[in-house]
Amino acid sequence: MKQVKLKDKEFGVSIPAEKIQKVISEMAIKINNDYKDKEVPLFISILNGSFMFTADLFKHIDFNCEVTFLKMASYSGTSTTGTVKQLIGVNETIKGRDVIILEDIVDTGITLEQILEQLKTFEPLSIKVASLLYKPEAYQKDMTVDYIGMEIPNDFIVGYGLDYDGLGRNLADIYTLID
Ligand code: IMP
Ligand code: MG
Repeated sequence: MKQVKLKDKEFGVSIPAEKIQKVISEMAIKINNDYKDKEVPLFISILNGSFMFTADLFKHIDFNCEVTFLKMASYSGTSTTGTVKQLIGVNETIKGRDVIILEDIVDTGITLEQILEQLKTFEPLSIKVASLLYKPEAYQKDMTVDYIGMEIPNDFIVGYGLDYDGLGRNLADIYTLID
């Protein structure tokens, strides 16, 4: 098995690059079909992890659309649920637009909940969520993830944009922590 060492941890390939590309092209077919009659939808890619997924998915999109990149930044306040994160970089016109959020992975769903709450205040016409990966066993929320590339077990993964302590984002395959 192909393996990689990042800092103190060993990872082995769990999702090969070809499989990732296949699920992305299948997701694009659904999105193309659902949005073909809409007026210039806006893709919102959540940095950092989603940059590779966004680039590869976007190449398959066949309707007129825009893309922008946002980031969740922690700020120096905490709530009972942990660190409060604010969405930064929102400057396109969201009001009245069909918005598709692009996420690398939905794990507990806490990040996605915060993104949706904050985006809704900009009054989009519609919001859907597309996530390459989804961990059903870890998910704690009830928002719908409209487009899911793959469901994966509740293990820590890296590669294809996802990192361990900043490392591993450059890997074309996805790797799982070996314990
Ligand atoms: P959530 O808020 O728990 O849903 O986590 C969402 C964010 O945590 C993702 O956008 C990732 O940046 C990160 N994350 C969740 N699971 C993993 C993983 O297995 N490997 C690397 N990053 C992860
Ligand atoms: Mg992320």
